[in-house]
Amino acid sequence: MNIKEILAYASVYLKDVSEIPNKESRILLAHLLGCDILWLITHEDTLVTCEKHYQKLLERRVNHEPIEYITSKVSFYGEDFFVDKRVLIPRPETELLVDLVALVGKEFQKPRIVEIGCGSGVISIMLAKLLPQATITAIDISHDALDVAYINAKALHVDQKIKFLQSDLLANFEQKKFDILVSNPPYIANDESLHVGLSYEPDLALFGGVIGDEILVRIIDAFLCTDAGILACEMGYDQREKIAQYLKKYGLVAEFYKDLAGLDRGFILKKEL
Ligand SMILES: C[S@@+](CC[C@H](N)C(=O)[O-])C[C@H]1O[C@@H](n2cnc3c(N)ncnc32)[C@H](O)[C@@H]1O
Repeated sequence: MNIKEILAYASVYLKDVSEIPNKESRILLAHLLGCDILWLITHEDTLVTCEKHYQKLLERRVNHEPIEYITSKVSFYGEDFFVDKRVLIPRPETELLVDLVALVGKEFQKPRIVEIGCGSGVISIMLAKLLPQATITAIDISHDALDVAYINAKALHVDQKIKFLQSDLLANFEQKKFDILVSNPPYIANDESLHVGLSYEPDLALFGGVIGDEILVRIIDAFLCTDAGILACEMGYDQREKIAQYLKKYGLVAEFYKDLAGLDRGFILKKEL
């Protein structure tokens, strides 16, 4: 088969599982051949002998495995990150949280930032790049996730700028003096029925408790016990009211932000120091 023929076959094969079967067919073939998509497009008549291996990748995709796990790669904030099943696949909306923290971080000369639940490391790594004067501690409860975050920090040359720490929230983080706490925690309810594709991602990264906002609430409590003045969190689209009510008990008011789909997606909380 030549490239044009094998891609035509793959697009039909993927059409029930993907909304963009042409694109995914190309991504998978480029990944397998170690070339870029432009090369595929300009070499449509070239014969290939990788049908069997390609078929295996297509089958994984037909079984709803996310393409990012098949290619071990995701693009976030314009950078390529390594991902595998040890970590959540970073979502585009989390770039908004990075933007928000980068903006408030610029108000400090040398912002001291702590991230809870770093997963693949995308938030801490991008903040290290956007705020070169920042000191950053990236925390995760999962050793596996920290291993992936370290791989990414090294690949993107910020491994010297970030301390990695295994901890349940801030339990093992002794230094309570810092400026900004940031988190994209698990915030889905334990019993929520999810698309089969999400079953490939770690439960620890998805599920936040019986209601879903339990870890968010624990993060707010942990934040209130520190000297940090700013907390920025991503949250579920339906959690605004609950979080606002919870903060009201402490006389606190957060600013909520929406994602590009117009859904409530997170908040920033500033406390008087
Ligand atoms: C939704 S993922 C976010 C990953 C990454 N920050 C991102 O935005 O793509 C949540 C992360 O929180 C971690 N986590 C869950 N419970 C935690 C806890 N109690 N303490 C610290 N990290 C936790 C999970 O292991 C997971 O890596």
